Amino acid sequence: MAGFINQGKLDELLFKADILSVAGSYVNLIKAGSLYKAICPFHNEKTPSLIITPSKGLFHCFGCGAGGNAINFIMKIENLSFIESVKLLSERYSVDIDFDGDKKSAEEAKAKKRLYELNKDAANLFYMNLKSSQSAIDYIKKRGLDKEIVKQFGIGYAKNEWNDLINNLLKKGYTKSEFLKSGLCIKSAKNDNIYDKFRDRVIFPIQDVAGKVIGFGGRIINSKDTPKYLNTSETEIFVKGRHLYNLNRAKFHCKDYLILVEGYMDVVGLASAGIENAVASLGTAFTRYQANLIKQYTNTVYLSYDSDSAGISAAMKNAQLLDDMALDAKIIILKDAKDPDEFVAKFGGEKFLSLLNSAVDVYIFRIIALKRSFKDGLASDESKSKFAGGAIKIIQEIPDSIRVEQYMEYIAKASGIAKGILRQQLEKNKQKEPLGAKLQTAKKESIKQGPITAQEKIINILSNNSEIYQKYKNKIKNLEFNEGILKDIIEFIIIAYDSEKKFNPSEYISLLNDENDIQYISKILLDDKFTDESKLQGYINVISVDNINMRIKEKKSVYNNALKCSDISAANEALMQINSLKRAVDLIKGGAI
Ligand code: UTP
Ligand code: MN
Repeated sequence: MAGFINQGKLDELLFKADILSVAGSYVNLIKAGSLYKAICPFHNEKTPSLIITPSKGLFHCFGCGAGGNAINFIMKIENLSFIESVKLLSERYSVDIDFDGDKKSAEEAKAKKRLYELNKDAANLFYMNLKSSQSAIDYIKKRGLDKEIVKQFGIGYAKNEWNDLINNLLKKGYTKSEFLKSGLCIKSAKNDNIYDKFRDRVIFPIQDVAGKVIGFGGRIINSKDTPKYLNTSETEIFVKGRHLYNLNRAKFHCKDYLILVEGYMDVVGLASAGIENAVASLGTAFTRYQANLIKQYTNTVYLSYDSDSAGISAAMKNAQLLDDMALDAKIIILKDAKDPDEFVAKFGGEKFLSLLNSAVDVYIFRIIALKRSFKDGLASDESKSKFAGGAIKIIQEIPDSIRVEQYMEYIAKASGIAKGILRQQLEKNKQKEPLGAKLQTAKKESIKQGPITAQEKIINILSNNSEIYQKYKNKIKNLEFNEGILKDIIEFIIIAYDSEKKFNPSEYISLLNDENDIQYISKILLDDKFTDESKLQGYINVISVDNINMRIKEKKSVYNNALKCSDISAANEALMQINSLKRAVDLIKGGAI
């Protein structure tokens, strides 16, 4: 939301910092009619799917869905907040904006700084605690961690007390609300008191890539407790999908590759065995954001996940994600150990590194999994051919023909079926494909004709042209748009035109808060395929019919209720209304309207 920035000033900024010049300073623009195209900077692609409409001040990527106005573009590409982006643009384009919010953002920055400090102080306290707790020392020893590793990772201990952290850090002047905001303390359900979240747990401090402590993972040392790990909940500075455990250290050792593991202990265990370049996600699913983070340091990732079924499916999913993002991702297959930590404890770091040579990419990994699913070890001709058929289907998804060729080799070897025959099957499958694809588009087209699309198209057409609006406004005002953003924008357009103002798409976008709304609306407004007045009446009809059908549904339930209560006259009344609504639908569908 524009918040405390004057809307008039914001318009001036969007006028001067026009989308072409803003985007053009980051990407190479190619003119295409009244639009411009570019390779999207927000996802990995080879052909341009980012579209810019200068007349509307909007961009939208048909590949990844990113979209919005010039401010949203800066937010995304510079990774800045709304205010920060407005500031950057106002400086670049010399628009004098009075930030009465400066004071507020200074306060926010100060509050954030204190959160970082509180986390750091907590980490120090936990670290000191470790020295005085025999049970924690015993546990650390049992896990094979020496003093040096404990120090490097800042591993600590939260005492088995309700207020140890609060009592110690209150002395430093932190307030109750700061303890709560940090996620280190929890509010009592009974009264206003707060208490320590982490108790009797070994603590792994989590640092951002710059090395600042942002949160904690705490492991039980008493096997009776649950859950095994407790993590800081998300806070202002701890967004789990945006950080990787140990990246702050691994980044100095990742010239050739990074190792992605599941757990804190895997990272620490590997480091104990001399392998310093392992990172882990933070007890949540691995995200595209984290993949991008990795990409800033290396293009090669080895995934070493647990050997149980959950680990296998997570490895497969995440290796695919990395592969799709053009990283070189390989999965390490562990034998005789449940996770990398156990593996290095049993067999040592060198043995672990030797596994890298036999690591496989996601497609081979899937083919191996398929092979293992045949209980006879591919002894019979029947399983051989079934396996080959399944494996071909897997590699059919790969766009890169050189890679397909390599996998063919692999499948031929594993199944004993000649490559020529496998290739024939691949070709056959490909010929079948167009039909499937055709069916899919047909299905999509029919969905597209639904009332939502009709609303989207009407919004698109009206956003371009107030004259069309004047012609159709009585009909438009009678339509029920879907609750939410669609209704919001049509009302905005109606008010703008009725008060003889222009509708400014980019200004409307700057009033939106939600990233999904911004992307969705930019896409609707920007699609030039829609701008066809001749189709407008058709779209109006689709919505009218949908509106009437809703009313018919309501009347039907009135009718059924009336029958249940034996209220014949009410039932009759409802039936008459239903019939007249149905006639209205027929008239519209018959082309009378
Ligand atoms: P694991 O159970 O594999 O952890 O969970 P680990 O590191 O091997 O633990 P040890 O060896 O038994 O000490 C992997 C990761 O999943 C998250 C943690 O981030 C953990 O490191 N996790 C696991 C939780 O957040 N909560 C849990 O209860 C368990
Ligand atoms: Mn483990």
